[in-house]
Amino acid sequence: MIDSKIEAYIDAHSTKVDNVLNEIYRQTHLTQMYPRMISGPLQGKFLEMICAMLQPKKVLEIGTFTAYSTISMARGLSRESHIITFENNEELEDMIHDNLNKAGVAQQVELIIGDAIALIPQLANKFDLVFIDADKINYPRYFEMVLEKLNPGGFILADNVLWSGKVADPAITDEETRAIRQFNAMARDNKQTEQIILPLRDGISLIRKISYD
Ligand SMILES: C[S@@+](CC[C@H](N)C(=O)[O-])C[C@H]1O[C@@H](n2cnc3c(N)ncnc32)[C@H](O)[C@@H]1O
Repeated sequence: MIDSKIEAYIDAHSTKVDNVLNEIYRQTHLTQMYPRMISGPLQGKFLEMICAMLQPKKVLEIGTFTAYSTISMARGLSRESHIITFENNEELEDMIHDNLNKAGVAQQVELIIGDAIALIPQLANKFDLVFIDADKINYPRYFEMVLEKLNPGGFILADNVLWSGKVADPAITDEETRAIRQFNAMARDNKQTEQIILPLRDGISLIRKISYD
C-alpha cells in the first residue's frame, strides 16, 4: 500500500534482518504456494521491536506459516519468555521445526499443529501478547477467544486489518472483508480494550486490554 519509492527508502534506512530470516524468506518463496502470507523484513522487525519494548513473558501466535513472525518475535524476547504458536497445516510442521532450530529459538517456542479455534479455549495459560495472523473469516472469534486469555495490560496485534484497503470500500462485501470489518468494530467498541490501526503493510491493529470488565 505504500508508494514503492517510500518503501525502498524505508528499507534502506531500517536495520536489516539476519541471514536466517533472509533464508526463510527465500525458501518460503521457493516452496510455498502463497508466499505473500509471510510477514517479511519490515513487519518482522516491527514485531521484534514490539517484543523488545513490551518484554512479554508469554506470547500466543495464531498462524505460524514458515515461522518468520515467530522467529522475529523471539528475537526481541528475553530467554525466559515463551511463545505458543498455532498452525493447522501439518505439511508445514517439519519446515517450522527446522526454521526454529536454525534460528536458535526452538527451546522458547512450542508449536501446536491443529485448529486454533478448537484448541485455544483449552489453553491453561494467560498471555501478555497475542499475534493474530490466521484465517480472516475467524478474526471476530479470535478476538473474543484471545481477550479471555489476555492478562490486563496485555496487547493483541492483528495483521491484515486493512485488507488491501477493502475494509474502507463499502461496495466490497465478500466474507473475509466483512469479517475483518467486524473484528475492527469489535475492538473499537469493546469496553475492555483500546486500539489503533497502524497503516504498516496491510494494516496492523495494536489493541490493549485495559481492564477485566
Ligand atoms: C498469513 S499466514 C501466517 C504468516 C506468519 N504469521 C508470518 O508472519 O510469516 C496464516 C497461517 O495461518 C494458518 N491457519 C489458518 N487457519 C488456521 C487455524 N484455524 N488454526 C491454525 N492455523 C491456521 C495457515 O495455514 C497459514 O499458514
